[in-house]
Amino acid sequence: MAYLNRNASGVALPVRIGLIGSGWMGAFHAESIARRVPGAVLAAIADPNLESAEALAGALGTTKVTADAADLLADPEIDGVVIASPARFHSALIGQAAAAGKHVFCEKPAGLGLEELDTALAAVEAAGVHFQIGFNRRYAADFQAAKKDLAAGIAGEPQLLRSLTRDPGTGSIGHAARIPAWTIFLETLIHDFDTLNWFNEGAEPVEVYAVADALVEPGLRDQGFLDTAVVTIRYSNGAIAVAEANFSALYGYDIRGEVFGSKGMVQAGRSTETAARRFTAEGMSADTPRLNVELFRQAYTDELVDFADAVRARRDGRSDDTVPAPKPFTLTPGALDARRALAMALACIESVKQGTPVAVNERAVL
Ligand SMILES: NC(=O)c1ccc[n+]([C@@H]2O[C@H](COP(=O)([O-])OP(=O)(O)OC[C@H]3O[C@@H](n4cnc5c(N)ncnc54)[C@H](O)[C@@H]3O)[C@@H](O)[C@H]2O)c1
Repeated sequence: MAYLNRNASGVALPVRIGLIGSGWMGAFHAESIARRVPGAVLAAIADPNLESAEALAGALGTTKVTADAADLLADPEIDGVVIASPARFHSALIGQAAAAGKHVFCEKPAGLGLEELDTALAAVEAAGVHFQIGFNRRYAADFQAAKKDLAAGIAGEPQLLRSLTRDPGTGSIGHAARIPAWTIFLETLIHDFDTLNWFNEGAEPVEVYAVADALVEPGLRDQGFLDTAVVTIRYSNGAIAVAEANFSALYGYDIRGEVFGSKGMVQAGRSTETAARRFTAEGMSADTPRLNVELFRQAYTDELVDFADAVRARRDGRSDDTVPAPKPFTLTPGALDARRALAMALACIESVKQGTPVAVNERAVL
């Protein structure tokens, strides 16, 4: 018996993904690609911190490691990249990856200013590569169930929307000095802005009014550190939204979204880790989610499954039978979603500086 002589056209080749940035989020994405995304392989890792890249590569069986993302982008054996470096490098890396013909999944935010992002997105457009932004909440089962209801008109005309992020904490933020300025808008609330935009699809965010302070770490207020924020948003369909964030919830990681409309209300977000409850003489209690990689483990995986599917479809030009059936609502967050949410974050920064509401559209760079 000998091997069948099969040619490559009948074989589903794995989607080969290169990771750029092997820190907290990059390491989790790497593990997802290597272990949980069917038909994908983690082909290479780039990080100027070679020690971090090598440790991750060793754990996941990846042989190609480099300190320079340019090596990975020049590698013809890489189909697409996952960018999980610090945010200040995102736009440049998106542009370089697109110019090299690689499909791009980029962690949020896609940039720190609209000019740099527009340059990157022009490169994506010119290269015709797939671009996806890491707005993972869209892939959480409860957020998708809510979106499905909203797409079916269950809540009617949206009037009030709400989205919140409370990061887990201990009541003090030990690493506050390492958190870049305006992170609460650019890297945290940007998730909430996307949730609100997605839930209120078809409407544009027109104006924001942001109030922010250092309430967890008041000692850092004078240095401009912000750990607590509330944003009101006016949308073009008249709906009014509130987004809020805090960096230190003692009870765990708390993410919720809600739409109240002319016909009812739709909510997403779960406050317990599992459906288990404890009933004792003191009353009822349950465990709460503690980490993003616990609450969103499946969502982080599914956004990369979606990315790998898109890359495979583009690379192989295959018919739709290899792509999952489309959902009855929009899902994959792309270039316009990345830009819209960033424009809102930038307008919030301006709003805090000015102490007034600020128009969202056409916000310039920081
Ligand atoms: N979607 C989410 O829920 C979520 C959660 C956490 C972080 N993030 C995002 O992921 C990104 C990374 O965050 P993190 O917490 O993993 O940060 P991190 O500091 O843990 O990791 C960043 C890594 O990038 C490396 N790096 C620095 N410059 C680089 C470059 N030019 N090219 C390649 N790698 C470079 C660093 O050495 C480090 O290993 C941020 O944009 C953050 O907002 C998203």
